[in-house]
Amino acid sequence: MSVYEAIRLRRDVRAEFTGDVVDDATLWRILDAAHRAPSVGNSQPWDFVVVRDPATLRKFADHVADKRVEFRNVLPQERAETFEPIKIEGITESGTGIVVTHDNTRGGPHILGRATVPETGVYSTVLAIQNLWLAATAEHVGVGWVSFYDAPFLTDLIALPEGITPIAWLCVGPVHEFQQIPDLERLGWRPRRPLTEAIHHETYRTP
Ligand SMILES: Cc1cc2nc3c(=O)[nH]c(=O)nc-3n(C[C@H](O)[C@H](O)[C@H](O)COP(=O)(O)O)c2cc1C
Repeated sequence: MSVYEAIRLRRDVRAEFTGDVVDDATLWRILDAAHRAPSVGNSQPWDFVVVRDPATLRKFADHVADKRVEFRNVLPQERAETFEPIKIEGITESGTGIVVTHDNTRGGPHILGRATVPETGVYSTVLAIQNLWLAATAEHVGVGWVSFYDAPFLTDLIALPEGITPIAWLCVGPVHEFQQIPDLERLGWRPRRPLTEAIHHETYRTP
């Protein structure tokens, strides 16, 4: 699969997991792709916690369900109705959670390139996630990013040491198919912007 094909095929997956668990060799290739991401000062600030214990998956899914209710309860009526049928996670169905974490101390205090833009550390970890996502797609493995959680809850659930921040819970598993249109677009939450709107010339404000 070409990189362009993987980019076009990639979806955030919630409902299309087969129920099979991704095999270890495939998971290794996907994590190897993630670990080859660029990083500020070559700091490689990421780690990957692979979670497969059904009891842990269940606990996290229950926490996320509570957070979903909290979000729905602050939506205006019309948005709440649009939100209702939208599935926001496939934690137990995917069979594997990968928590991508960030260590801002890795590489010491003098990270080449981070002095002026401190966020470049976290940007680096997010690039590892994008590598992971595209590699998984090329393996016909789905990925769904879950951010409906309180960081302290997840930190406690998987025993993260102090200073290690959870950046994402990724549901990872084989899929029946990839949807062609993002769920949020198909279900009327928000469409894709045209590329022409995102491109600016010379300055942000083009006349
Ligand atoms: C930082 C981040 C957090 C996200 N959190 C969630 C989430 O909690 N639940 C969910 O269903 N999708 C989540 N998504 C997936 C987006 O909804 C999805 O990427 C977007 O609707 C576009 O769809 P596509 O990825 O299939 O192209 C997240 C995506 C990103 C990049």
